[in-house]
Amino acid sequence: MEKKNIDWENLGFGYIQTDKRYVANYKDGKWDEGGLTDDANIVMNECAGVLQYAQTVFEGMKAYTTEDGRIVTFRPDLNAARMVDSAKRLEMPVFPEDRFVDAVVQTVKANAAYVPPYGSGATLYIRPYMFGINPVIGVKPADEYQFRVFTTPVGPYFKGGAKPITICVSDFDRAAPHGTGHIKAGLNYAMSLHAIVTAHANGFDENMYLDSATRTKVEETGGANFIFVTKDNKIVTPHSDTILPSITRRSIMYVAEHYLGLEVEERDVYFDEVKDFAECGLCGTAAVISPVGKVVDHGKEICFPSGMEKMGPTTQKLYDTLTGIQMGHIEAPEGWLKVIE
Ligand code: PLP
Ligand code: COI
Repeated sequence: MEKKNIDWENLGFGYIQTDKRYVANYKDGKWDEGGLTDDANIVMNECAGVLQYAQTVFEGMKAYTTEDGRIVTFRPDLNAARMVDSAKRLEMPVFPEDRFVDAVVQTVKANAAYVPPYGSGATLYIRPYMFGINPVIGVKPADEYQFRVFTTPVGPYFKGGAKPITICVSDFDRAAPHGTGHIKAGLNYAMSLHAIVTAHANGFDENMYLDSATRTKVEETGGANFIFVTKDNKIVTPHSDTILPSITRRSIMYVAEHYLGLEVEERDVYFDEVKDFAECGLCGTAAVISPVGKVVDHGKEICFPSGMEKMGPTTQKLYDTLTGIQMGHIEAPEGWLKVIE
C-alpha cells in the first residue's frame, strides 16, 4: 500500500480529510449494521438533538506504525468502555464495545495510506463519536442517534512538540461536582472554549483547572490529565471524580510502577504543593506527555526545576517507555496493542 504524499514531519494537530469513515445509525431501539462511507458530510434536521441540546459524546485515540511496519492501536477496548459510560450519562444508547473496536479497525484499515510512517513523529488520530440526530425541541433525549468514526493524520498537539509549555490557573471552572467532568461529552469542551481563548490571549499554552467546589485542588487541563514527579522521584496524579479518566494516564501509572520501578500515587493534589514538585507533565492521547515548565497563578510563577528547555529526566523516561510500547519497540503488556491486519 502506497502512503499519501504528506509532509508527515511538519504536521500540526489539525483536520485533514481522509478517504473513508464509519457510520452506524440507531433507530426504533436498535443499531443498524453500519459500514464505511466516502461521504464526510452529515445531513440532519435543523432541530436535531445534538444541535439544540449538545447531546454528543466522543473518544480520541491513535493508530501508530511500529518499527516492523505493522499498524496498531493502543488499548481501544478502554475507549470503547469509556464511551459506554459517556453515553449512559447523557441518556444515549450504548454502542456495543466489540462493535466500537471493529468500527475503529475498519476505519483505520480503510485509511492505511494516511497512517504516518514509523519515526515521522506523526500518528493517525481516530475520532469515534455519537450524537442525537432526530428533531428534539422539549428538553429530552433524542430517539435516533448516529455513531461515526473518522481519522486524520496529526503531529504534536502543542507547537514545539516536546518543549515545555507554560500554563495558567484558570478563573473558569471546567466541571461541577456531580456533573459531567468524568465523561467525554462535547459540552465539556464547549465550556472550555472561552477559557482556552482567554489563556492563549494572555500568552499561555493551556489552563490548569482547579476543583470548582473548593478551588484548592488540581484537576486537569482542557484536554489532558496531570502527572507530577516529586523530588524523591514518586509519580503523583490527581484523583478526582470530576476529571476524565485518561487512558494515557492509567497506562503511565502502570508503566511507572511495573517498567520503571517507581512509586506511584493517585490522590488529592493541593495547588499549594505544586511548587514542591520536581517535574510536571500533561498526558493524553493528543498531548502524549507534554512537559510543563511553568505554572502561573495570577502573576505568581511556579517554575519547575526541569526548566523550559527540555523534559525532566523522569518525564523523559516515562515518555520513552510509553511511546516505545505504542510504537512496538518495547514489549507491551498483554492486550495493550491491537494490530490492524
Ligand atoms: N482529560 C481530558 C479533558 C481530555 O479531553 C483527554 C483526552 O482524551 C484526556 C484527559 C486524556 O485522556 P486519554 O489519555 O484517554 O486520551
Ligand atoms: C484527546 O487527547 O484525544 C482529546 O480528546 C483531547 C483534545 C484533542 C480534545
